[in-house]
Amino acid sequence: MKDLGDYRKSYDKSELLENNIPEDPINLFHKWFHETENFGGVDEVNAMTLATIGLDGFPKSRVVLLKKFNEEGFIFYTNYNSEKGKAIANNPNVCVSFFWTNLERQVIIKGIAEKTLETISDNYFDSRPDGSKLGAIVSPQSEVIPNREYLETNLKLLEQEYSGKEIKRPKHWGGFLVKPVEVEFWQGRPNRLHDRIRYQLEDNFLWKIERISS
Ligand SMILES: Cc1cc2nc3c(=O)[nH]c(=O)nc-3n(C[C@H](O)[C@H](O)[C@H](O)COP(=O)(O)O)c2cc1C
Repeated sequence: MKDLGDYRKSYDKSELLENNIPEDPINLFHKWFHETENFGGVDEVNAMTLATIGLDGFPKSRVVLLKKFNEEGFIFYTNYNSEKGKAIANNPNVCVSFFWTNLERQVIIKGIAEKTLETISDNYFDSRPDGSKLGAIVSPQSEVIPNREYLETNLKLLEQEYSGKEIKRPKHWGGFLVKPVEVEFWQGRPNRLHDRIRYQLEDNFLWKIERISS
């Protein structure tokens, strides 16, 4: 293995300057998301790291998939009884971040998570393949289980039970909407003088825009 100290990279793919940014971070996020998709080379552009504050007081982060974003915020789906689900129920302050290697970019979003409307969760659940639907029903996400067979056996039983029947969304599974209060856009630049532009939501619902040092 290479000495980790020898991993060095100069970032020179793009720049982020104040004269070229929208007043609203969602517009810039939209632009960056599409640029990342179009440039290619990132396998799951919508994969994001979600950090929550756990019941044990520790932050914990894990990857989830962004399934929709708009002016309201960023939506992902999960098991509400999972470790992250319980963490959010206790403290809705979360952070989601994206690392898009191809254009040397990072986006860090602080926000408040809330359950999406049931209809939104229903619609998304209905759009999933049957295997994923049953998987969501069968898996007690984040709980200790005796072995892998536990999941596979229960999935087989459910497949028989639901054969030819409609699979409804279980109440413990659904979306969270992360409403942003702060969004930082990080663009790698040469000599470690990276561009960092931070948007913070103010009381008047306008976004304050500031450059922060790299
Ligand atoms: C690429 C990728 C995408 C994932 N997407 C999701 C997702 O959208 N929802 C989800 O609940 N878990 C997803 N996971 C699994 C989570 O990282 C995590 O293992 C799971 O949600 C349990 O987390 P928790 O025990 O901290 O609640 C994904 C994992 C990876 C690597």
